[in-house]
Amino acid sequence: MRKKIVAGNWKMNMNLEEGLNFAKSVDRYFREKPASKAEVILCTPFIHLAGVSEILKNSKVTLGAQNCASEPSGAFTGEVSASMIQSTGAQYVIIGHSERRSYYHEDDRLLNKKTLLAINAGLKAIFCCGEVKAEREEGRHLIIVKRQLEEGLFTLPAESMKMIVIAYEPVWAIGTGLTATPEQAQEMHYYIRGLVREKYGKECAEGMTILYGGSCKPSNAAELFSKPDVDGGLIGGASLKKEDFAAIAEAI
Ligand code: 13P
Repeated sequence: MRKKIVAGNWKMNMNLEEGLNFAKSVDRYFREKPASKAEVILCTPFIHLAGVSEILKNSKVTLGAQNCASEPSGAFTGEVSASMIQSTGAQYVIIGHSERRSYYHEDDRLLNKKTLLAINAGLKAIFCCGEVKAEREEGRHLIIVKRQLEEGLFTLPAESMKMIVIAYEPVWAIGTGLTATPEQAQEMHYYIRGLVREKYGKECAEGMTILYGGSCKPSNAAELFSKPDVDGGLIGGASLKKEDFAAIAEAI
């Protein structure tokens, strides 16, 4: 059975103290629960990584970052490399979130470099893809996601694919309250798994965890996760409220 994941993407929220307190309360919550069916990941801003890593020692909850540099090291003021992230104890990094693609103009070629660096540093990459509203309205959503995966991800050798989680995040559903219907999510996840199968074979495709992200909340999580190709969620706003995040993880 493939791995189920519920990952919280805090985005640019919470100062250091707030973030550490929040991580403590999430850790406490999952400690007291019987083992969840899903791996629970907190993807925090860079400033929280080292502190949250201490809090999550021996925890059921794991840690990730939200971005990494496109170069391994050196004179790149303000950047944080994949190996620096790995040195904090984080195991994951989100690559290619639509907010990075649109606000910071990160294109497929650059994201491909970041993905390779992440894997070389020993991190698992949560590789994001998804279409904007106009692309869906024009019926181009499948072709857009195909391009993002082919150019950003499918240059990887087969043995690296075990370090990849794919997250489908339709841009029109992020932070908007509009959620993809379970059928829309399933259609895309099934399509993505088919692309992985074509490129890397059946075993890789069947083992690939594919997450849904975009206004996922306690009221819609169970229905989304009930679809056969939806293996969990990448959660933005609702990951900032412990009760909501916990309820989404329970929905697995
Ligand atoms: P929301 O859950 O706030 O829509 O954000 C989704 C997201 O971008 C997660 O990476």
